Amino acid sequence: MTTRRVETSVAGLDTMLRGGFLPGTVILVRGAPGTGKTSLALQFLVEGARQGEPGLFVTFEEFPESLYRDAATLGFDLRALEATGMLRLLFTSPAVLLGQLQNPDSAIHATTGDGVIERAVIDSMTHFTRMTADAYQLRHIHTTVVNGLRREGITTLLLNEESPSDAQRTDPGGLAYLSDGIILLRYVEVESAIERAIVVLKLRGSDHAREIRHYRIQEGGLVVGDVFQHRGAILSGISRRD
Ligand SMILES: Nc1ncnc2c1ncn2[C@@H]1O[C@H](COP(=O)(O)OP(=O)(O)OP(=O)(O)O)[C@@H](O)[C@H]1O
Ligand SMILES: [Mg+2]
Repeated sequence: MTTRRVETSVAGLDTMLRGGFLPGTVILVRGAPGTGKTSLALQFLVEGARQGEPGLFVTFEEFPESLYRDAATLGFDLRALEATGMLRLLFTSPAVLLGQLQNPDSAIHATTGDGVIERAVIDSMTHFTRMTADAYQLRHIHTTVVNGLRREGITTLLLNEESPSDAQRTDPGGLAYLSDGIILLRYVEVESAIERAIVVLKLRGSDHAREIRHYRIQEGGLVVGDVFQHRGAILSGISRRD
């Protein structure tokens, strides 16, 4: 029997994920500013809406107008999706969301009306790091968020800004460890030009592609392309010819 997968609809990515995410898993999408985290996340929710799976987009940073505008650039009409009840946007603070997730009475549902949320996005997890300077406290916060979403059985993308220090393999607050999967979006310097690279680093309970592929952003969202051929050290950000 094949397990049901939650499809992203990102061309080429579902193949890398062997069909999509396992339902109810929490996936980290990590990348530098402008790599396309929000775009990928919107695509994921728009596809959910298309498949009849209600979605929730939680943002701590964007004003509603700029989110609607950015989505429109990708060809997504978020207001129309909200009107159908298949998408809810939540503009809140990390502290308020944390309080809701700690409440066992399924506060995520309470804040999102009576539609049962099946897909969610948190944009971005980086904001929780501003709640505390203590590593143990941050780990506790991350655990609360991840477990709260798991308890609801919501397939979730946690967006995470990657700073140069994270690229040195640090994992503040253990987010990479806590998550069921990790997708990395990277800028790569190739022959004096910047290209975009995507890789699935981890997918608990499933096989996944190991290769590093090109991707581009266009109307409709991300499109995954070919494998980086004859290049090494791609994830360092500055590739070299093999
Ligand atoms: N229709 C489009 N065609 C081509 N590129 C686009 C289109 N829409 C958005 N982009 C590009 O997508 C990139 C922004 O992606 P996005 O906002 O998803 O990144 P992000 O990782 O969420 O960034 P941040 O960390 O700043 O929030 C920009 O470089 C923008 O030019
Ligand atoms: Mg973003």
